[in-house]
Amino acid sequence: MTIARRKFISSLGGLVAASSLPSLAKDDPSLFGARGVYERLNLSYQHVHIGLAKPFSILHISDTHLTESDGRDIEFKREFAEKRRRTFGGRQQAALASSLAWAKENVDYVLHTGDLIDFQTEANLDFVRRCYGEAAGFMFGSTGNHEYQRRLPGEQIRNTSEYNAMSAEALGKAFPFDISFQSTVAGGVNFISIEQTYGFVTEKQVERFHAEAKKGLPMVLCMHVPFYTDHISRAAAKFWRYRGKKFAAMPAVPETLGDVKRQTEDPVTRGFLAYLKGEPLLKAILTGHLHLAVQERFSPTAVQYVVGGNFMFHGQEIFFT
Ligand SMILES: [Fe+2]
Repeated sequence: MTIARRKFISSLGGLVAASSLPSLAKDDPSLFGARGVYERLNLSYQHVHIGLAKPFSILHISDTHLTESDGRDIEFKREFAEKRRRTFGGRQQAALASSLAWAKENVDYVLHTGDLIDFQTEANLDFVRRCYGEAAGFMFGSTGNHEYQRRLPGEQIRNTSEYNAMSAEALGKAFPFDISFQSTVAGGVNFISIEQTYGFVTEKQVERFHAEAKKGLPMVLCMHVPFYTDHISRAAAKFWRYRGKKFAAMPAVPETLGDVKRQTEDPVTRGFLAYLKGEPLLKAILTGHLHLAVQERFSPTAVQYVVGGNFMFHGQEIFFT
């Protein structure tokens, strides 16, 4: 899919104003007192230099964790949605609305790298469908691990391709692109979004990535779970595993667990990482999942930028020059 540089499509103005999406938060003056909608965001700034004739910028957001639910869902899901709404502060829709309103005026495109929803409900999936549908040509993205969480009574969540495959039909109807692998050429840059939710990639994805590389365009890899280089791994461990401990109390190299272990041990992923480190067309990797902002050089030509949680009004504007 190639999308031309253009203004935010007018219907998305309606989306932000909540006229077509009654569930999307309207401007709420109680938030941050008298500060305007554009001052609510907690933004960081990054710069990817490629040597483009025409610079542009994107807003990269991730991990909004919407927790909408209504009478179409079973009681189990409705109760769980309420519990999770409290977990994420209950302002997720306002955070997304503020992000999109700001993006409309300030950037050329929006990238969402997954966990737009916290789990599958009818209202959450409707939201995904309308959000991407109305922002077509402006917003692109990838799924996160939470998009696959069905939260059915008695069903375990598993971090496997087989578990994700159970959601293929539901997510296929909600996301208007191939969630396994999607190329979006914007501003002359090939943004490649892949389903990478548990630390590993598949042979098919690697094959398709090589085909994209043959196009010769600068490439940006967009996915939910980071590739855990040392500093990113250390930051994730410090935030999530060593809570309440000073940095000095951590091991010099945190244990290799979960997504990091899968990434380290899976031969297809190891091979892909080795190839990527030597791929001169790779200009950046954009990820989320950790709910913290961190970055580290990945290869001679690319830095990996992890963006924090959008449920806390965070995002990063990335200049491409
Ligand atoms: Fe996640």
